[in-house]
Amino acid sequence: MSLQQSEHNFVVVASRLPVDRVAGNEQGPGGEPEWRTSPGGLVTALEPVMRETGGIWIGWSGDAGPAPGAFEADGLHLVGLALSETEVRQFYEGFCNATLWPLYHDVIAPPQFHRRWWESYVAVNRRFALAAAEQAASGATVWVHDYQLQLVPRMLRELRNDVRIGFFNHIPFPGYEIFAQLPWRRQVVEGLLGADLLGFQRRADATNFLRACRRAVGLTTRGSTVRVPEPGGYREIQAAAFPISIDAKGLEEIARRDSVRKRAWQIREALEEPGLVLLGVDRLDYTKGILHRLRAYGELLGDGRLGPRVVLVQVASPSRERVEAYQLLRDEVEVMVGRINGQYGEVGYSPVDYLHQSYPREEMAALYLSADVMLVTPLRDGMNLVAKEYVASRFDESGTLVLSEFTGAADELAGAFLVNPHDIDGLKDTIVRAATIGPAEARRRMRAMRRRVREHDVARWAADFLTTLGQAPGGSGPAGAGGQASSVVPPGGISYRAAPPA
Ligand code: F6P
Repeated sequence: MSLQQSEHNFVVVASRLPVDRVAGNEQGPGGEPEWRTSPGGLVTALEPVMRETGGIWIGWSGDAGPAPGAFEADGLHLVGLALSETEVRQFYEGFCNATLWPLYHDVIAPPQFHRRWWESYVAVNRRFALAAAEQAASGATVWVHDYQLQLVPRMLRELRNDVRIGFFNHIPFPGYEIFAQLPWRRQVVEGLLGADLLGFQRRADATNFLRACRRAVGLTTRGSTVRVPEPGGYREIQAAAFPISIDAKGLEEIARRDSVRKRAWQIREALEEPGLVLLGVDRLDYTKGILHRLRAYGELLGDGRLGPRVVLVQVASPSRERVEAYQLLRDEVEVMVGRINGQYGEVGYSPVDYLHQSYPREEMAALYLSADVMLVTPLRDGMNLVAKEYVASRFDESGTLVLSEFTGAADELAGAFLVNPHDIDGLKDTIVRAATIGPAEARRRMRAMRRRVREHDVARWAADFLTTLGQAPGGSGPAGAGGQASSVVPPGGISYRAAPPA
């Protein structure tokens, strides 16, 4: 197939573009739509690499309808791909978020398997692979992201065997007994195996994937390596853990601003002299354990174990609002919040401050600073960056963190109070403990967590992944088949490096 190639040595392929259309200002001065860089961690991590290598980012704008195509925003090269209204329903809301999402999160909600949705997933993945093949320079490095695009590595390799392909899965990879339910399990594993390096959040995710290679495809694995036979030889692919992180320094800088500290103080004042402020910050998603948290909190109010005038500030940002499971969850959460406030509130006092909104980073930092105890209690979560954001914001080393053991962050944040969110009594006891430990112990725990997050920030994550990708064996095994042209990622990684830890 002849493809018109362009000259980008570094190509990011992710389901979303790293920019948002500026609301209410659809047309900029030149008659073009206006875009603003979205503040996510992935953009922060990859922006320097993109700028240094003249890289390009391929993604979807989030709206159904015509594609924005190739454009520039804030000096970044971007390609916006189109999804039709049907594809939004079948690919995004359907296969990604009503099949893969619940399946990969340990079937907390029942996954739905529909052949139409799968066909749409294949078609959209092919569109992304074709776009990557068109944009990549000879020998380029292509980094594909997340569960929405698991077929892209193989599709791309079939189009462009000269490029070096990395894939990072941002969500958990489930145990084989669960993964095996997927009618297209073999195709998914084979799709991923088009990559040279597969990154996962936790070692357990990589182990689960390696097991799926053995069980679903019958391949041989050794340590973290899978051997994939190819005509006349084989390729060796590494599957390993690269726990993602945040721009810790950037967030701390925001938290230290006078305006943000003042805002944190205002938030506490607005809560009418609370005895204790608990904070939950989540996308409104059934994986986040919001109902379990509310249940434990409601019981604690009934028991009176947290003292008077305790407040739980619960930010639940809107997400995937057309997917049925999310609509049901919203109803359940709102009924429960209403019940708790009705039962334990007074005139001028509501024990739950529920905010179904999204906030800019400054307001988030102020919320993190205003809390005494942060509650991060997902039933399953690939990493949970909110836990890391809270820690990074607490420059005064105060505050405690209650953290579900079913998050990737639990592997790293040793100073947190770990909890099984299904165990409501255990959750209650842990919240009480986190709220009542002395300041010296709280400081010791927070200091350890802050050190970890500062030293393992998102820049280091990207550098580690790209360095390992640069060293990946790539091409063919000793039998000498096929092989790849040299990658722009030299052994030792592309010239981008994380800053040394402060
Ligand atoms: O954690 C997986 C993820 O896809 C994130 O990358 C993203 O921020 C979040 O889930 C919400 O995703 P979306 O709004 O694209 O469904």
